[in-house]
Amino acid sequence: MITIHNESIYTTKQAAEFFGVSNATILNWIKTSHLVVHDKKIFGSEILSLHDKISSGEIQKLKKRANKSGNKRTFSPDEYIHEKKHTKSFKQILTGIEKNTQNVELTIKFLLINYLEKNGLLVINEGSYSTNKKSIIDEIASWNIDISDVNHHYLLDITLPDHHDPVGFIYQSLFSEGSKSKQGSYYTPLAIVQNMIKDSLHSTDKALDPCCGTGQFLLAFADTITDPENIYGYDIDPVAVLIARINIIVRFKEHDFSPHIFCINSLCDLNSGTFDFIATNPPWGSHFTKNECKKLKSHYPMILSGESFSYFLVLCLSLLKENGFVSLILPESFLHVKTHKDIRDFIIDDYSIHQIHDLGTVFKNVFTPVIRIDIQKKKEADNCVTVLDGESRFSTRQSDWKNSDQTIFSIHITNDDKKIIDSVYSLKHLTLAHNAHWALGIVTGNNRDFIRKEPFPGSEPIYTGKEISHYYLNDPVNFIRFTPEIFQQVAPVSLYRSAEKIVYRFISKDLVFAYDSNQVLPLNSANCIIPHLNYPIKVIVGLFNSSLYNFLFKKQFSSIKVLRNHIETLPLPLLSSEQYTAISSLVNELIENKKNDDGTLDEFIFDCFGITENNREICRKLNR
Ligand SMILES: C[S@@+](CC[C@H](N)C(=O)[O-])C[C@H]1O[C@@H](n2cnc3c(N)ncnc32)[C@H](O)[C@@H]1O
Repeated sequence: MITIHNESIYTTKQAAEFFGVSNATILNWIKTSHLVVHDKKIFGSEILSLHDKISSGEIQKLKKRANKSGNKRTFSPDEYIHEKKHTKSFKQILTGIEKNTQNVELTIKFLLINYLEKNGLLVINEGSYSTNKKSIIDEIASWNIDISDVNHHYLLDITLPDHHDPVGFIYQSLFSEGSKSKQGSYYTPLAIVQNMIKDSLHSTDKALDPCCGTGQFLLAFADTITDPENIYGYDIDPVAVLIARINIIVRFKEHDFSPHIFCINSLCDLNSGTFDFIATNPPWGSHFTKNECKKLKSHYPMILSGESFSYFLVLCLSLLKENGFVSLILPESFLHVKTHKDIRDFIIDDYSIHQIHDLGTVFKNVFTPVIRIDIQKKKEADNCVTVLDGESRFSTRQSDWKNSDQTIFSIHITNDDKKIIDSVYSLKHLTLAHNAHWALGIVTGNNRDFIRKEPFPGSEPIYTGKEISHYYLNDPVNFIRFTPEIFQQVAPVSLYRSAEKIVYRFISKDLVFAYDSNQVLPLNSANCIIPHLNYPIKVIVGLFNSSLYNFLFKKQFSSIKVLRNHIETLPLPLLSSEQYTAISSLVNELIENKKNDDGTLDEFIFDCFGITENNREICRKLNR
């Protein structure tokens, strides 16, 4: 099953894969509004909400189709093969294995014996093996297998490619998508792992990966650390642990030792340590049993979200020595989503973030962008964070992030950007927080039956996000008979019917706000604001549609949803009455003529805040 994240957008094909149904079925679910789309985009939140409805039995008829227990299909994590020439040999091996494998664990054990032989650590002859290393004898004895088993002998004859973790790759490929996403088991590509390690690891360090999988980080530690006794790894998956142990034994061929790599539930059973360095890609969005949830709540009371990567981050910091380093791969949403404010708050005061690196999307079938974060266990009031975002690199003060409402780690804000933002917020201002009513667009529950493309007796126009332009509403293309009592979601009718309101696109990467005095109805992703403060409504519309405010929004939230709490932070400056009048009349003109701003209003708004020509260009550039 692919991993679905609330804020990401998916294709119908991906949704089909997630539910284990055909593409046609997904199209049908969209048609019947079981799966709600916003401006032709399928959001993860809608997929998960439908999944919940199906699982809870709320939508009985879909249940038969959707494969609730998860997708049994497997796929190969190609990003994990660093040398593309091996792709073909791996594919051939997998085709052979998939046909014959009944028992993945047994298959892996035979492949590990093969791998040990390939590396000259044992010799196989006539259904038995010999080695002069006690650690390898003990290792294989603990597996409890019969090496003379003829059904599995073909596995000893396979030529494994020269890869740093060939058995791990095969194991991952045999893993069904369902269990992979359940356990968050996406192993990290080698280049990323090596980069994470090269900056902060020293040869005498004691290093750990607390959820090591088949040991990609442990192998990278071994490039720097000379003593295998200083390498530690844990994982909840017993087969991954077997592979990781052999990988490290093979890496330290000259030593005869038993690796410090064990199968445990790190979150529940690991609580003390003195490591110099920890690096990993922890599982995201893991599912926990009731019992585990109870334990986790008491071990990590500061984490309210129940998110596995947050638990792991707290665990890693607690296992470090003072001044030690942790380097983690996390979803980008960690930086700004409200749910993860808990973990950001935990870090912001007591630890020093050294670096955040925007890595984009790196895992096949995981569509979420990811970041790497390096944190030192050290309290430093004036810490500067280095941000690497594509080509650009800049540093910013950690304490600046503390001042934002949601403790957002805003990696897209350079020092120049910050000056612009500060100059806007430094003018005395109000906001819409506690100063407006909010109304979501109507969700009918069945648009096919309720909505028509032409007016009909008793109908009135209804507006989706698409018909909202900057300043005004376009001509309607949908009509409805307003029967709120039978719709799925309706705000109090009086809000839709307010004398004046602002209608805005909820699903959008830009701010798009229209003025309405016709008491029109909004549908789906068209939401409404009814301000109740002493501030001219048309000035709000003018400000929110300007390049300057679009810049504030994009820099601070980098979101494809315009959320209420985003809008509530936008400043409504206290201007002179002449300035209010000038903005209102410019906005009025645009509304009445259904026209877009030719730049006059935009420049006037820049003037109000005294933005320099250089900084205006920065804002315009972002909006192009
Ligand atoms: C995203 S994978 C990463 C593996 C490896 N660290 C890497 O980056 O390639 C996450 C790993 O966490 C393991 N895991 C999940 N929950 C765990 C827990 N509570 N304790 C230990 N390991 C866990 C999974 O089995 C999986 O191997």
